[in-house]
Amino acid sequence: MQAQRRRRSNAGLFFLFAVMAAILLAIALSAATPKKLPDADWQSFGNDGREQHYSPLDQVNLNTVPRLGLAWQFELPPGNSVTQPVMAEGKVFVVTGHGTIRALNAVSGKLLWEFESHARERAGKLLRVGWGPKGLAYWNHRVFIPTQDGRLVAVDARSGKQLWDAQEIDPTQIRNMTGAPRVYDGKVIIGHGGGDITPIRGYVTAYDAISGKQVWRFYTTPNPVGPQENAALEMAAKTWLGDRYGGGGGGTAWHSLSYDPELDYIYIGVGNGYPYNQLLRSSGGGDNLFLASVVAVKAKTGEYVWHYQTCPGEQWDCTSTQDITLADLVIDGKPRKVALHAPKNGFFYVIDRVTGQFISAKNFAKVTWAYSIDQKTGRPIENPGIRYHGKGMFEMWPGVRGAHSWIPQSFSPRTGLTYLPVIEGASMIGDEGIDLSDPKKAGSGYKGESDPALPGAHTSHLTAWDPLTQSPRWKVDLPGNWPGGTMATAGDLVFQGRIDGVFVAYDARSGKAVWTFQADAPIAAPPISYSVGGRQYVTVITGNGASGGGIFSAGNARYRTDYRMPRRVLTFALDAKTRLPRSAPPAPLVAPLDPDYRANPDLEAKGAGLFARNACLICHGPNAVPGGTAPDLRISPYPASAEGFKAILRDGVLVSAGMPKYGELSDDDIEAIRQWLRKRGQDMPKTPGGPDKGQKTEQGMTGA
Ligand code: HEC
Repeated sequence: MQAQRRRRSNAGLFFLFAVMAAILLAIALSAATPKKLPDADWQSFGNDGREQHYSPLDQVNLNTVPRLGLAWQFELPPGNSVTQPVMAEGKVFVVTGHGTIRALNAVSGKLLWEFESHARERAGKLLRVGWGPKGLAYWNHRVFIPTQDGRLVAVDARSGKQLWDAQEIDPTQIRNMTGAPRVYDGKVIIGHGGGDITPIRGYVTAYDAISGKQVWRFYTTPNPVGPQENAALEMAAKTWLGDRYGGGGGGTAWHSLSYDPELDYIYIGVGNGYPYNQLLRSSGGGDNLFLASVVAVKAKTGEYVWHYQTCPGEQWDCTSTQDITLADLVIDGKPRKVALHAPKNGFFYVIDRVTGQFISAKNFAKVTWAYSIDQKTGRPIENPGIRYHGKGMFEMWPGVRGAHSWIPQSFSPRTGLTYLPVIEGASMIGDEGIDLSDPKKAGSGYKGESDPALPGAHTSHLTAWDPLTQSPRWKVDLPGNWPGGTMATAGDLVFQGRIDGVFVAYDARSGKAVWTFQADAPIAAPPISYSVGGRQYVTVITGNGASGGGIFSAGNARYRTDYRMPRRVLTFALDAKTRLPRSAPPAPLVAPLDPDYRANPDLEAKGAGLFARNACLICHGPNAVPGGTAPDLRISPYPASAEGFKAILRDGVLVSAGMPKYGELSDDDIEAIRQWLRKRGQDMPKTPGGPDKGQKTEQGMTGA
């Protein structure tokens, strides 16, 4: 008995030891291996309709981030690569160029399928508009993209085969559709741009995500000729006074739109008026609703709910298309559902997203167009110079590019901070010397020229903005003036790429850089994060392109964002050790061989004018100094060959590579442009490293 009892208690002791050892081993193992994560997708622009650009994943965090390394890379062809991918079904979907999708294995980066929308060949003159898609959406085994020829295209996420397409814009008008579609409740909604070129009338359209049939359309400006489509537009029409000259007034909504599933509201960020000059658009003044506004509509029907206008009666290219981030904050002790909005005009707005009530606003960049926002009315207290008619040129901060462009801000519910990519800049604006007497000939009726000589202009920073105190918590100066999109994570990190090719993770609370990666190419695209098989990944696309600033990126020419440099999808994970293949350095800036070149100042001056008037500079850069959107024509061999040059412009032999056709240009005009480009080539040094003799200063630009 005794012996038996002892044996039993021995067994009990052994069992106890075994359990303790197992527990200790489990503790030791959990400390050594990162926490396993459930799988998590990133299915749409900003992660979901709230557009927080926030990942709830925290495997990569302040402690582990030093172990973050390259898991895989995928090389992309030249062309717009400044887009946000999405991840679902274990695939990373990437849209680049003017409407090409690639599906990559999310763990290995292996190409699974490729879909070509042939948007370039179909786009005609729309190919000349220097913007490309900024992102895509996934829903229910489908991927949705905007294309350069103005279609919303649905593709089967498993096979890469097209399911349907819908022509969202009239291809004979100059509109451009680039914003990432938003999918909600079995529908997909998209807007478009173009209100900087002709006086079109803006709208957004919701489609059935399965059939591609239109469900509803909401116009963002009143009908200039006929009866209004709804009561909201009747109200809006009363804010357009005097002559409208038949134009639609602009107000396009070209960015991705936010969605609140609880309220079932879509938030539309509406753009600027066109012509920019209000005298040509609404000659008697008025607020001109819904230009430069946030408009909430019912997601099922598109019925108007409320609006808040950031720039009443705007006439300086003030857009409110920038992110509308939905967040829940406690303000003065009360929980509030808010929209956080930092448009081009340099003010950070907190708006009640249920009622549209203005809560607060404060400038996050240098601002001169208004002194502040009136707390009672929510209207700006304007600097009178902003109504420029007959007053000469006005020094406006922020400049025509805005203090915040489409490159996304992010919001962390853990820190309560918004991470804003801020551009500091100024422009001289006005209508001095423009004859407004014939509205048909006056164009935009406006000049807006960046002035790089102003101290502090053309800089950029990442700012952690506290929406409760309306003040910056921290700020990091960035190289260049086109900062990358941001992503915040539950690991208390903020990821952002830089124009000088460095991908950085910051401590979300202090702004300290805690991790960097040399990506060898500029990064403007917003990153995403997802998890598969218990591992967290961070993905970002490198390279510049149309949506990376186009015309603007010339200001960043010194970072040599060569058009032919490799662009890549980079994916990072803890303890990953893939090596980034080193890229060949950009082609040296040396004069191309052109022994037959003879100077001809008159023809060269004519060519320079034609280059600007035909908007070649949108892609090839002002004064032919490009920023990565298109080849550097100063060092191109083509201008030396009359036949080759003509084939490109007149016959459009490079259309499928993204170079538009200019069939209407006469032989003489083509020769003049060619002559000027040859001169620009011979301005280049004979050996690398010398100065560009034809380059005066960093170029200003108009409009946009
Ligand atoms: C919307 C953007 C865009 C506009 C506007 C544009 N281009 Fe291009 N261009 C491109 C792209 C992209 C390529 C490169 C195509 C390729 O990959 O081969 C290119 C290539 C070229 C080339 C061949 C250069 C080389 O070395 O391969 C020439 C020459 C050229 N463009 C001239 C012009 C002129 C002149 C204009 C204005 C009349 C113009 N482009 C307007 C985008 C544009």
